[in-house]
Amino acid sequence: TFKVTLAKSGQSYIIPSGVSITDALREYGVHIETSCEQGVCGTCYTKVLSGKLDHKDAYLSEEEKQSGDCMMPCVSRSASDDLVLDI
Ligand code: FES
Repeated sequence: TFKVTLAKSGQSYIIPSGVSITDALREYGVHIETSCEQGVCGTCYTKVLSGKLDHKDAYLSEEEKQSGDCMMPCVSRSASDDLVLDI
């Protein structure tokens, strides 16, 4: 379980364990476009402002993963208690 804050609205949402960020946000009425939902297509690419990431996708390069400023929220998660997305 961790918290995701959306920078543009300032709203924070709890993401339960076992539920993807995109699925959890959808439950809250926030839609991030997805397609494969397996971390391979790139559709859900999202910029990250802060937080430690637990990348689980096969789309981003190692460099992008290490930069910590973007993620694929259909599969990847936060490794910190708080994650701030640039949406
Ligand atoms: Fe395809 Fe996230 S929906 S990578």
